[in-house]
Amino acid sequence: MSPADMIARFGSPLYVYDEALLRDRCRRLINALPSHALLYAMKANSNAALLEVIRGEGLGIDAVSIGEVMLARKVGFAADRISYNGNNVTDNEMRAVLDLGVGVTVDSLSQLERYGRLFPGTDVGVRLNPDVGDGHHDHVITGGPDAKFGIDHEDMEGAHSIAKHHGLTICGLQQHIGSGILDVNTFIGAMEAMLTVADRFPELRFVDFGGGFGIGYQPDEDDFDVAAFGVQANPLLERFRAKEPDVTFRFEPGRWVVAPCGTLYVTVTSIKRGKRHTFVGTDSGFNHLLRPALYGSWHTIENVSRPDAPVEPVSVVGNVCESGDLFCRDRALPTPEEGDVLAIRDAGAYGWSMASCYNLRPRPAEVMLSPDGPRIIRERESTEDLTR
Ligand SMILES: Cc1ncc(COP(=O)(O)O)c(C=O)c1O
Repeated sequence: MSPADMIARFGSPLYVYDEALLRDRCRRLINALPSHALLYAMKANSNAALLEVIRGEGLGIDAVSIGEVMLARKVGFAADRISYNGNNVTDNEMRAVLDLGVGVTVDSLSQLERYGRLFPGTDVGVRLNPDVGDGHHDHVITGGPDAKFGIDHEDMEGAHSIAKHHGLTICGLQQHIGSGILDVNTFIGAMEAMLTVADRFPELRFVDFGGGFGIGYQPDEDDFDVAAFGVQANPLLERFRAKEPDVTFRFEPGRWVVAPCGTLYVTVTSIKRGKRHTFVGTDSGFNHLLRPALYGSWHTIENVSRPDAPVEPVSVVGNVCESGDLFCRDRALPTPEEGDVLAIRDAGAYGWSMASCYNLRPRPAEVMLSPDGPRIIRERESTEDLTR
């Protein structure tokens, strides 16, 4: 079905996901890291239909909130296939997560202390800040001295003594250095540092290296090479496992799994030829895809209605009342006309999941392109929903 037909049937703007590609990416990950726990970071995209496919392919879940844990359980992920590492969470949230049978990984010494007082004598995971970070933007670098996450690697003795005081067993170590990492060696270096710390924890059952595998958003960028990564990571992990045979290794990729599977289709609503820029207005905006406004991210944009039109530099913008509401600035595109459909690619991760109803505009519908045709997997929000 063509994008125009899909928009005619399901409306605009519209998120569309490619099920076959999603399955293929899950399989490529499993092939690269066959003997490790691959826990999809559902913050990237938590649509239940995508989660069902991902579960069917054999991945587990990385969750960061009680809401994510509840949805993962509802979709059928077993509790022991879900990891949970929230940050700055309440006692009630930790209790609710444990009640669902899911283990908790704490993010700070004060949370460990609180956890110990509430649940003495139990198991707990600890998130480490390894003093290295990486990522496509400062906002997503989650390791190192400027990041709010984890317990500093130099404070690990503190974790030991709090655990001892409350009879806790530190059964897991976790880290996540950032998002959008393209260099395999950066990730391997962070794993080596983590394994050095892990040597000091004799009771570990899991070591979790987090997510962060990037994708090539720009035309000249390649995805994080998971096959090459596996070739380096697997022997490293086998050497550790030779000493500690009971340890499971975990990874938490989100973006890599889903980003290329999703496209946001938007419709052109106006063309404004200004003094400095030609603004192509659309019926969407940063309320539906925040990444360009928040991080200055590049998403490939195609004019699927008029691919052969003469090319000119245009700024594709949305209908949110803010000047930062841009999908791209002065980019060469086949000149759009009102009514044209534009495809914003690689929008499967941190697209709908970061969408809001800012300006009281409803969030788009979502459609899965399955082998037997397109099907709606989330109804479009309505203005009635928002004004109820
Ligand atoms: C703890 C944790 N794990 C995994 C991820 C997933 O990252 P990505 O989507 O870059 O793989 C994130 C993202 O922020 C995270 O905070």
